[in-house]
Amino acid sequence: MIFESHAHYDDEVFDADREELLGCLAANGIGTVINIGASMAGSEATVKLAGQYSFIYGAVGVHPSEVEELNEEKMERLRVLCGHEKVVAVGEMGLDYHYPEPAKAVQKEWFERQLALAGEVKLPVIIHSREAAKDTLDIMRANHAGEIGGVVHCFSYAKETAREYLEMNYYFGIGGVITFHNAKKLKEAVQYIPMDRILLETDSPYLAPQPHRGERNSSLNLPYVAEAIAELKGISQEDVIEITEQNARKLFGI
Ligand code: NI
Repeated sequence: MIFESHAHYDDEVFDADREELLGCLAANGIGTVINIGASMAGSEATVKLAGQYSFIYGAVGVHPSEVEELNEEKMERLRVLCGHEKVVAVGEMGLDYHYPEPAKAVQKEWFERQLALAGEVKLPVIIHSREAAKDTLDIMRANHAGEIGGVVHCFSYAKETAREYLEMNYYFGIGGVITFHNAKKLKEAVQYIPMDRILLETDSPYLAPQPHRGERNSSLNLPYVAEAIAELKGISQEDVIEITEQNARKLFGI
């Protein structure tokens, strides 16, 4: 069954129909979901969701745009949440230079601290990197991220950057963007990345694939992503679903 490696079902846009939506995933071929914390509140909500649904697992961490809320006390709380039996990763964490705030130095500091936490609790990381390819790689190398292991979520860089992450043995989260007509660079990168390094993801509620671009996204749209990868790789959609499920199980130890 489909393994959804990155969704934010704690987001308020799901408040009206969360139960109904999550309840119909299995019947639509979605077997497992990793819900990703992007803030302290999101991380707490993630652990709660994982407790409510057998097929949901969690990642706890703070997105680079939200790191100004972090302090020693909150890092300690993240460490406690990492001990929950259904928390399987730390993140999302990383660098996002799309907006001027928070300052780069602040983002870098909390990225390094969260990487160190993952190393201590021995969980893989979920990396968010936008318009920050070189700094992300520099910090990951300096902090031995290759030994920690993890996935670069919503991978959106070119083949050359993919090669650098492959050298660190990372996985690549591929989502709705792969179905966009203007995603030429990403399509080349996906042709280049070996199948045993690819995970399916949505980043729900964001980044819905064609033909639902612009709408609220959910894991129900993952067959479109699997189909786009299948076409690029010259294999069947079923093979993409099966291989990416195995990859995710291996990475997250589920
Ligand atoms: Ni996300």
